[in-house]
Amino acid sequence: MSTVMESNISQEIINLEDKHGAHNYHPLPVVLAKGEGVYVWDVDGKKYFDFLSAYSAVNQGHCHPKITQALIDQAQTLALTSRAFYNDSLGVYEKYITEYFGFDKVLPMNTGAEAVETAIKLARKWGYEKKGVVENAAKIIVCEGNFHGRTTTIVSFSSDPDANNNFGPFTPGFIKIPYNDLEALENALQQENVVAFLVEPIQGEAGVFVPNEDFLSSARELCTTYKSLFIADEVQTGIARTGSLLAVCGNCSCENKCEKQITYSTPDILILGKALSGGVYPVSAVLANNHIMDVIKPGQHGSTFGGNPIAAKVAIAALEVVLEEQLALNARKLGNLFRAEMNRIIESTDLILKVRGKGLLNAIIVNDTEESQTAWNLCVALKENGLLAKPTHGNIIRFAPPLVITESQLMECVAIIEKTIREF
Ligand SMILES: Cc1ncc(COP(=O)(O)O)c(C=O)c1O
Repeated sequence: MSTVMESNISQEIINLEDKHGAHNYHPLPVVLAKGEGVYVWDVDGKKYFDFLSAYSAVNQGHCHPKITQALIDQAQTLALTSRAFYNDSLGVYEKYITEYFGFDKVLPMNTGAEAVETAIKLARKWGYEKKGVVENAAKIIVCEGNFHGRTTTIVSFSSDPDANNNFGPFTPGFIKIPYNDLEALENALQQENVVAFLVEPIQGEAGVFVPNEDFLSSARELCTTYKSLFIADEVQTGIARTGSLLAVCGNCSCENKCEKQITYSTPDILILGKALSGGVYPVSAVLANNHIMDVIKPGQHGSTFGGNPIAAKVAIAALEVVLEEQLALNARKLGNLFRAEMNRIIESTDLILKVRGKGLLNAIIVNDTEESQTAWNLCVALKENGLLAKPTHGNIIRFAPPLVITESQLMECVAIIEKTIREF
């Protein structure tokens, strides 16, 4: 419930959603009508910094002119043909994205969850046809606290009761281990019929948990040793968000696109979504090399909209912007500054315990219980002061601005956060 009176027009719109929409979200009481770069405006014309970026979909900033132009041009030319026929955009995009990330092939889908489902199916099929796993016995290792989307199979291995309570029966074939635990991973990899390890390089929804420095590279090596696939779900962490093109690149020093492609802990299967379109269109992708991707034959997997011409053109534009505007470098530089500023504030307040994150994917931990309303109320106060953010879990607030944010804008945001914390 809002603690602040909303304007009449906002309240009317909120009431519409409340009455006619399913209550599967719990939004902050703000009704947005316009966006540009790092800013959004509400229906009354009040301007805010967007510190959520549609859960890291809008890395390139709201309504990026190059990306929206690509959308408009293609929508006016050819929007959708389905994969029953070839279209003149898809092949060009497939060449572009596979060279960009250094894989042989891409399988285009629309949402993050669909891409995760695709990766799961791909890994299982690879297990049966290439690894010789016993029929229908394939197992995939996942982590506690994971968030990979909302389908029935994906929530089957969630540890969040909100995600899976009363949604059973669940899909079998998953082994859950603690996040950031290499010993548990090695033990699980030794079980029979394991085909893959599916992991978020940084756990976003769980509250921005950054694993130990060596976790991803060692996990990669363990998967190789035990002949299982290393699957990186970079739907939230990918596309420059954490200060490198992909979070699995770790602290790779390349400023943007790696000449050597991914060298740090190259996944066998890479899952992308969200910012792959700069947030203007649902575009997701699964990338892998031929020996994996070739197990999928015509008719065995697909999606009406996957690989449509608009998606193809929009994704090329969105990926070009990441390089042209050096968003990885900006995320890394400003991420360091942001955490330094948060640590400065934390020194003189009891309200915030800690800041953690990488690049511009960060979270602050509010000094209260998970069940408390403090983080929510702090977000409402931040909104009043012109900055939009939302708790991920109870007492954790995620801060993920568009990566086009400048240093002076970031410092304005730090001032808003500091003022809000001091006044709270
Ligand atoms: C790591 C990760 N994987 C998958 C998804 C699901 O993406 P979508 O909401 O587009 O289905 C998300 C969404 O937040 C995510 O953070």
